Amino acid sequence: MLGRSPQHHFVKLLTFELSNFYPRYTRMFAQINGIRLAYSDQGTGLPVILVHAFPLSRAMWAPQVDALSGRWRVIAVDLRGHGDSDAPLWCYTLDQFVEDLRALLDHLALPQAVFVGLSMGGYILFAFYRRYRERVRALVLADTRAQADTAEGRLGRFNLAQTAYRQGPSAVADAMIPKLFSPATLRERPELLQLARGIIEANRISGIAGDLMAMAERADSTPLLNEITVPTLIIVGDQDVATPPSDARIMADGIRGSRLVVIPGAGHLSNLEQPEAFDQALMDFLKTLQ
Ligand code: MLT
Repeated sequence: MLGRSPQHHFVKLLTFELSNFYPRYTRMFAQINGIRLAYSDQGTGLPVILVHAFPLSRAMWAPQVDALSGRWRVIAVDLRGHGDSDAPLWCYTLDQFVEDLRALLDHLALPQAVFVGLSMGGYILFAFYRRYRERVRALVLADTRAQADTAEGRLGRFNLAQTAYRQGPSAVADAMIPKLFSPATLRERPELLQLARGIIEANRISGIAGDLMAMAERADSTPLLNEITVPTLIIVGDQDVATPPSDARIMADGIRGSRLVVIPGAGHLSNLEQPEAFDQALMDFLKTLQ
C-alpha cells in the first residue's frame, strides 16, 4: 500500500516507471485493428474502463487506478497514438477510437463495462454510445462537452497541429498546460504541471495531430443526450476553462436522471488536481451499480 501523498508519487512518476509507484498499474497489450493497444487491468468485479484526455495517456488515471482497483476491475486504455500504444501515421477519427475500445472489450470478453471519459475521452464515449450502447453499463462524463467544435475551435486545432508538427510535443505541452489546471495549481503545484508535461511529451506527433483532426471533425452530440438511458454521472472542476461547468449543465439537463458533481478547486484535469473528491464521486456512483 502507498504510504505517501499522491503529490509525492506524481513527482516520482517523472523519473520512474509508473509501476514502481503504483504497483497495481500493470501494462498489457492487445493486438486489435492492426495495431498494438496498451492498457492496464487491475482488480476484480464490475469492469470500469477509463478513457483519457487529449493529449495525455492512461498515465493520467494513476490515482484512480490506485483508489478503485481494490473493489472494481479497472481498465485504463492508451488510445491509439498515445502512451505505450502504437501511433500509426494515418487518419484518426473518433469512430476509430470507438472501434478500438469495442475490440478491446471483445478481447477481454466483456459484454459490458462502465465507461469513464475525461474531455476527449468523453467525446469518444458519446461516439461509442451512438454505435454500441448495448455494451455500456453506465457512463461517467468528466470535464467534457456534448457540443461539436465551433469554426474558431477548429481553427485552433489546425494551428495546434502545425505547432505539433513543427515544434514537437513539448510545444504542445506549453500550449496546453495553462488550459488544464486551475490558476492556483498553475501557480503553486509545479510537480503536477511537470507530471502533465511528462505525459504529453511522451506522446508522438502522429497521435497528437490525429487527435486534433478527430476532435475537429466530431459530430454534435447534443441531440444524443436525451437518448442516453444508462446511469450517468457528470463531473466537472469548478474552474475548468476548457469545458466549463456551463457545458456540464447542458449534459446534466439533457440526460434524464443524471447526477452532476462540481469539484471545488479543480480545473480541467479534475481527476489529477483533486483526486480525492474525484474518486469519492466515482466510488459513490459505482456503488449504486452493484
Ligand atoms: C482534452 O482535455 O481532451 C481536450 O482539452 C479536449 C479539447 O481540446 O476539446
